[in-house]
Amino acid sequence: MCGIVAYIGERDATPIIIEGLKKLEYRGYDSAGIAVLSDGLIGVRRDAGKIRRLEALVAEQPISGNIGIGHTRWATHGAPSQQNAHPHLSANGRVVVVHNGIVENYLTLREELSAEGVEFRSETDTETIAHLIEKFYAVEKDLFRAVQKTLQRLKGAHGLVVMSADEPDRLIAARLGNAGGVAIGVGEGEMFIASDVPAIVEHTRNMVFLESGQIAIIRKDHFQVENLAGKAVTPKLQTIPWDPVSAEKGNYRHFMQKEIHEQVRALSDTLIGRVDFDNYRIKLDGLNLDEQTAMSIQKIFITACGTAAHAGMVGKILLERIARIPVEVLVASEFRYADPIVGENDVVLAISQSGETADTLAAMEEGRKKGALLWSIVNAIGSQAMRQADGCISMQAGPEIGVASTKAFTAPLMDLYMLAVYLADVRGLLSRSRRIELVKDLLKIPSLVEKALEREPEVALIAEKFKDVKGALYLGRGINMPIAYEGALKLKEISYIHAEGYPAGEMKHGPIALVDKELPVVVIATKDDWYDKMISQVEQAKARGGKVIAVATEGDELIPTLADEIMWVPKTPWLLSPVVDVIPLQIFAYHIATALGLDVDQPRNLAKSVTVE
Ligand code: M6R
Repeated sequence: MCGIVAYIGERDATPIIIEGLKKLEYRGYDSAGIAVLSDGLIGVRRDAGKIRRLEALVAEQPISGNIGIGHTRWATHGAPSQQNAHPHLSANGRVVVVHNGIVENYLTLREELSAEGVEFRSETDTETIAHLIEKFYAVEKDLFRAVQKTLQRLKGAHGLVVMSADEPDRLIAARLGNAGGVAIGVGEGEMFIASDVPAIVEHTRNMVFLESGQIAIIRKDHFQVENLAGKAVTPKLQTIPWDPVSAEKGNYRHFMQKEIHEQVRALSDTLIGRVDFDNYRIKLDGLNLDEQTAMSIQKIFITACGTAAHAGMVGKILLERIARIPVEVLVASEFRYADPIVGENDVVLAISQSGETADTLAAMEEGRKKGALLWSIVNAIGSQAMRQADGCISMQAGPEIGVASTKAFTAPLMDLYMLAVYLADVRGLLSRSRRIELVKDLLKIPSLVEKALEREPEVALIAEKFKDVKGALYLGRGINMPIAYEGALKLKEISYIHAEGYPAGEMKHGPIALVDKELPVVVIATKDDWYDKMISQVEQAKARGGKVIAVATEGDELIPTLADEIMWVPKTPWLLSPVVDVIPLQIFAYHIATALGLDVDQPRNLAKSVTVE
């Protein structure tokens, strides 16, 4: 959940690390710190709060040097405070560590080290790592070996970078399990390390991603990687296609607003290379799927968390309706514990923006153990979920910085639709005319999303009217039921207003008791097969004095006579309607949160990638 940035080269490490940390602040923003090595001494600056506090501190008490490490934290052990902020020094001040993950056996290690006379200065689990390295260094006289020995003592999943005043020409980086990525950016006479690509992509696009159980020695002009057993590894150098400008806010007030508007581009990009425009066929080369395997698939288990799980729920309907393959959706944090009946002819399909969500990776591992084929739909290039899978669909959404996911929700909806059409085609279920119709519908979506976005000012006015509500109920049916869940999640995570998403037909079985003139009921009542049923829900809510806000199809003349407020969307083929119908709900949540003066991009208690279980 935390962010790591490190640098070694000829330039001053401090501004490079601080600028990198700013790009990772979405990962955690409780506290931040930096350590730089200069003239044989490690200088540390760290404080509670966001990077701008750290920046101010460094301006007051400057540090500089050609090698350094930095961290932005999402607290797990110990409150967000100056003393708990990373980097953490060892007792003699010669070793310093930044760390992502949780040392699960830290209490035992802490007792052991305390018994040996070590005095702890923080409540964190990470501090044990710094002390252990110092202890092993005293014997090994080699930083790499000391880190290797330390890793052998740690339980849990970890990503870390270590610097030592005694070996000033190198940084040691390591990854154990799924606690976020460790990317090494290879420059000319300089190297960068980061937990996430956006932190360093402006400096180099040539990157190596450490696998679990790998440790790297990184010098300014070369690096080498070994596994835990000490065997040399030749890692694959990858070129990152991202444009660094897309990781900037541009003229938008917030990343979230920018990312909402980027959906037109992201959805167009996701079609490129996948749609054969001459033959109206879908090709998904990244899946590495042969016809025989495609024919043999019996069931697909979709697993994901949060917004990605909502995309999976839409995916279930798409895959079952179009490809006629049974699909089960399991929230990733429950996957292992549900002991699902997964066989060799089944697929476990993980959906993840970050590709580093610990629960999702654990679900993938479970799927692997049970012998399933592993697929993923992932945004972050080079992430674990992308690398672990047998086949992957890359979202092409570009970096998503706002903690509330928007474009990384609609992009996988398109991917799931393409997957459904592709599988149906390979399995011989589609007539030519049906296939052409389905693909043509897909091509309409970017411009329909653009039309929905043009109505932002109208939605903002509705948000202004409702910004002081205490709660909201979101109702949807059929393929738009997950959109009710997603709309409610968007509102609650950035505005802190309690919101419930419900299958519309369930309202009468309980939630209707909540409906009064104070409670807005947001209904997705677009023109689809469930329209008449949704109109009944509107009537039921109105009969109890509820205030109804409807997402409705342009041209609908009935809905204005019933609903209090309308968020219009263009008419969209129903299987793809979630992509368009969610747009006003994203905008609504965004404008309520901004009207309340809240930190939209970094809402309280949340982090962009959740790398703890
Ligand atoms: O990176 P992932 O897609 O795996 O993340 C999953 C969830 O943590 C994420 O969607 C979360 O629910 C977002 N904050 C939603 O906006």
